[in-house]
Amino acid sequence: MDKNSKIAFLGLGSMGGPMARRVAAAGYPLTVWNRSSGRADGFAEVAESPADAVQDADVVVTMLADPAAVREVVSSFASKLKPGTVLVEASTIGPAAVQELAGLLPDGVTLVDAPVMGSVDRAASGELSLFVGGHADEVMPLLKVFGSVNRTGAVGTGAAVKLVMINAIVNGVALIGEALALADALGIPEEQLKRAMAASPLAGIAGRAFAEGAYFPVRLAAKDVALAADAAELPIARAIHARLTAYPEAANEDIGQITKYFRT
Ligand SMILES: NC(=O)c1ccc[n+]([C@@H]2O[C@H](COP(=O)([O-])OP(=O)(O)OC[C@H]3O[C@@H](n4cnc5c(N)ncnc54)[C@H](OP(=O)(O)O)[C@@H]3O)[C@@H](O)[C@H]2O)c1
Repeated sequence: MDKNSKIAFLGLGSMGGPMARRVAAAGYPLTVWNRSSGRADGFAEVAESPADAVQDADVVVTMLADPAAVREVVSSFASKLKPGTVLVEASTIGPAAVQELAGLLPDGVTLVDAPVMGSVDRAASGELSLFVGGHADEVMPLLKVFGSVNRTGAVGTGAAVKLVMINAIVNGVALIGEALALADALGIPEEQLKRAMAASPLAGIAGRAFAEGAYFPVRLAAKDVALAADAAELPIARAIHARLTAYPEAANEDIGQITKYFRT
């Protein structure tokens, strides 16, 4: 690909919006599409449908909520892709859904799975960390617009590594919530506990639990823990999934906020 390569970006949510803006700022010819209107405001080329968006595209990026959304959207445009197109699937959907996606694509279309770590703040600054599976040499310049690239191997391996990582992180944040609940029961002041955590092996995960500027909603975190628990026997993840979904009012809050629900 080069600077004239046509990019179609589908899904302008909390992550897709800032990622697509980076593609535009990098100077690529860009067409965007989003299911609901409003989120595409400010983009020069807005398509009416996914099929319209991918027409003539050299690279298509999908950044959608979950496996069902990706399946629905990709099914609606797959037959329109011209040979030589690369589909970069950046959502977190797990390796099984990536393999299913591969089966939807016509011959001559390359699938690259490139899920991302880092939240909305890093999406805006181009400091995401990407786990990239498949033949991605062609699209490396585009992937680097989003952040740093970790090549993981064959198609689906990026999705697999991402799922392992995010499951452990979400479970870790949930356990920080339980640690706070225990500290409350034992009368330990929050600031004292935070200092103790910061000076311990818990520092990294506590940093995420108390992060400001990140927005990874509980509903998406629960989706990822469910994907992980479907992929292997994970009793702890199953228990944490039950806790994450026990507070519907927390669904659209950042995962770090789940700690406050566990304390009450
Ligand atoms: N937020 C984070 O910190 C973060 C970090 C790393 C990875 N991720 C992953 O990245 C992906 C996107 O996350 P996000 O935070 O951007 O989510 P989001 O803000 O909820 O956006 C989801 C996007 O998917 C679209 N969508 C949902 N269902 C759809 C359907 N059935 N058909 C068509 N479009 C559909 C939404 O369209 P509408 O606008 O019409 O609803 C929106 O564009 C998820 O897989 C998430 O797990 C998120």
